Amino acid sequence: MSTKPHAELFKLLGITGPDAAECANLLATPPGRAALAAMSAMQERLGTFPLVSIKDDDAREADWIEALLRFAPTVHEYHVELGISPAVSAASLADVGLQLRINRRVHGDFGLDTWSWLTLHMAGNLFRLGRLQFHLVQSPNEIPASDVSGIIEHSSSWVLGVHIPEDGGLSPALVDDSFSEARVFFSTHFADKPAPVATCDSWMLDPYLAERLPASNIASFSRRFTLDRCTDAPTDAVYFTFRQRGLDDLDKLPRDTSLQRVVLERIDDGGTWQLGHGHLAL
Ligand SMILES: CC(C)(COP(=O)(O)OP(=O)(O)OC[C@H]1O[C@@H](n2cnc3c(N)ncnc32)[C@H](O)[C@@H]1OP(=O)(O)O)[C@@H](O)C(=O)NCCC(=O)NCCS
Repeated sequence: MSTKPHAELFKLLGITGPDAAECANLLATPPGRAALAAMSAMQERLGTFPLVSIKDDDAREADWIEALLRFAPTVHEYHVELGISPAVSAASLADVGLQLRINRRVHGDFGLDTWSWLTLHMAGNLFRLGRLQFHLVQSPNEIPASDVSGIIEHSSSWVLGVHIPEDGGLSPALVDDSFSEARVFFSTHFADKPAPVATCDSWMLDPYLAERLPASNIASFSRRFTLDRCTDAPTDAVYFTFRQRGLDDLDKLPRDTSLQRVVLERIDDGGTWQLGHGHLAL
């Protein structure tokens, strides 16, 4: 199947190599009922600033991949109508291609086990600005009021959820630049939704990591945030470090980097990796 007719779309979504051929296959026939239903679910959310992604226990990944491919140009148009640069829109939507490549590493094949995550991008309120992604949402009110008094007291309930795409190192300078870009971007394009606080929910904010690897970029990133609480997330650190789902066959995983060793040794010692929930003032 030729990928040529879809060159522009695949460029927008950062889809490359064998994934481009597989995606062209999905687009070769008119969309079926499931893909159409998925597209209409995304259409309903576009511009509504949803906090959570679409979930669907009976979903077939192929239907969602097809729907994401077919719907992405509508999101791109929406971004451009808001005055957002085509480059920022494309950088944001290119997570589709990245997630397809990661899926190959995780499962050895074409697929998208993270399709649900990408439904956030398709609502039009998640942007990649430099090294980080920012998700403009209404605060879920989980930040203890005492911690942020004076920060959100006099303002709205909007916050920026911060996400860290896989894309090389996370140097403090890149993170600084990304936050600076975000401050300008959101006050320009979403001036009526001022977000004084950024939040982050990540395995990277588990305080165990900053204790064990204090000089790492990960620790430097996590120290920017005030930790509000932790919740058990036994598999996250393994997934993001090794791109393996679940905790089987951990003895076969490499221990080449300090992070790999810390992640596995904690589990060896009977520990449970946590999701750290933190916030910072923008
Ligand atoms: C977050 C991330 C960009 C940090 O990368 P980084 O800037 O290179 O990280 P650090 O400098 O803090 O790395 C410290 C050590 O961990 C290693 N390391 C970092 N990320 C690693 C990874 N994903 N796999 C294996 N080792 C890793 C580094 O090589 C270094 O090892 P060394 O001390 O033996 O030299 C990287 O881990 C990544 O891409 N993760 C996937 C995305 C992710 O987790 N997002 C958050 C989702 S909630």
